Amino acid sequence: MSGAVYYIFGATGDLAKRKLFPAFYSLYREGKLGENFAVVGLARRPRTNEQFRDDVKHSIQDFARYKKVDDAEWERFASHFEYMSLDINNVAGFHELNVLTARLDDKFQTGGNRLFYLALAPELFGNVSLNLKEGGLLNTTGWHRLVIEKPFGYDLPSAQRLNEQLRQVFEEKDIYRIDHYLGKEMVQNIEFVRFANAFFEPLWNNKYIANIQITLSETVGVEERGGYYDHSGALRDMGQNHMLQMIMMMAMEPPSRLNPEDIRDEKVKVLRSLRLFEDGEDVRANVVRGQYIEGSSKGKVLPAYREEDNVNPQSTTETYFAARVHVDNFRWAGVPFYIRTGKRLPLKTTEVVVEFKNIPNNVYLASKHQMEPNLLVFRVNPMEGIYLKMNAKQPGSEGVIVPIAMDFCQSCQIGINTPEAYERLLYDAARGDSTYFTRWDEVALAWEYVDRIAAAWRETSQDLKQYPAGSWGPEAASKLLSDDGFKWWPINGQNEGEVDWDAVQKTTVLA
Ligand code: BG6
Repeated sequence: MSGAVYYIFGATGDLAKRKLFPAFYSLYREGKLGENFAVVGLARRPRTNEQFRDDVKHSIQDFARYKKVDDAEWERFASHFEYMSLDINNVAGFHELNVLTARLDDKFQTGGNRLFYLALAPELFGNVSLNLKEGGLLNTTGWHRLVIEKPFGYDLPSAQRLNEQLRQVFEEKDIYRIDHYLGKEMVQNIEFVRFANAFFEPLWNNKYIANIQITLSETVGVEERGGYYDHSGALRDMGQNHMLQMIMMMAMEPPSRLNPEDIRDEKVKVLRSLRLFEDGEDVRANVVRGQYIEGSSKGKVLPAYREEDNVNPQSTTETYFAARVHVDNFRWAGVPFYIRTGKRLPLKTTEVVVEFKNIPNNVYLASKHQMEPNLLVFRVNPMEGIYLKMNAKQPGSEGVIVPIAMDFCQSCQIGINTPEAYERLLYDAARGDSTYFTRWDEVALAWEYVDRIAAAWRETSQDLKQYPAGSWGPEAASKLLSDDGFKWWPINGQNEGEVDWDAVQKTTVLA
């Protein structure tokens, strides 16, 4: 990794504390960061360098994978961190920042490379970029990269405006749009499992696959983010980005080379093949939206969404949605992708289930054996792994067929030291590898798809279904599948209502 100065805008915020500082520390501990770097924390609040380094230390103690901080190593690491109070609307402050950076460039031999991480509200991205240019921060011979967080706009027009602002200063190749799901080990692993194994790819099409199910469920409500979330909802918060990214990873063609652009080209082709909803009726037939009402989990009463802080008491914002998505291309025609996500569901999990078609002329079914289809399951989090559900003869029986699992549990092996998504993404951005970042055409196409759903929802809110907090969401989401002769496969191979969910999170064995 080449040397660089990293600027963290929003250095006193939650993302910096929970994700970014711990990511720097892990990279440092693993020798990936080297010594030729400086991190400049920027926010409006005044802080001394000492106070800032203390904040960083606490965040590492609380959130880093490597908790044990050795004193000498800590001193060395902390000496790379400086803080400057900055009013991002005042260009004079950026000139000052430039002077500070010149000193850091010199001290740490960073080669004039600069990475600007905007952990800020998106409304501020445009202004900050312009001021970086005005303040002279882009006048060095090294590289200059901009890393930004979602949401990238609220819909296609606002995303376009934002993009135009950024493009006045940065080239597309230097804009790194984060979708942290792409930094997750198991999401990246989808590509490897698909393209590095001889036995999946030949089956990876509409001849052998019946449907694909993607679940991103959360137990939390909206917590302190009511203000943001009530304006966004599950579709924009999870659908436009993480869920469509997962569909792309599952559906893309093998790239001809492993260059970032070759991979991203293949992903974009999936988005271009999505069947766009025609009108409100089409949306209502294929998309279910829900909002949680009061409910309970593990004996604890949970409030309704409309009672959460900073949420409009009459809000019609969806906290859940499920959809039947079609990828209309040669490989996937006729294979539904069912996706669902929601807050206040019974379990925190991200799972992708590939359900295979039944074999033709099944002699076992013909002789009245009970048999379930083969499933390939990617567990993304909190358990990480892959399992394959197959049918086999029960030992000692007269041909009774039982489901068995070939189970690879990655989190059991590598345990808590699986790199965090942000660590991986920071490392990639610093190396100039944009594979797991979202390109502009991906963002635009994703909005185009999602905007049609949002437009239908604006017509009427009568289709908004209520579900009790702590349940698996509206019944209508099951109907999406049952109408096609399918069902949601139970998460972690277990059935709702029969499980101790805490135990499930720890177990890796199929029921
Ligand atoms: C974020 C959403 O992008 O992803 C949050 O804004 C959500 O609402 C989070 O909670 C989920 O991420 P993860 O990594 O915990 O699954």
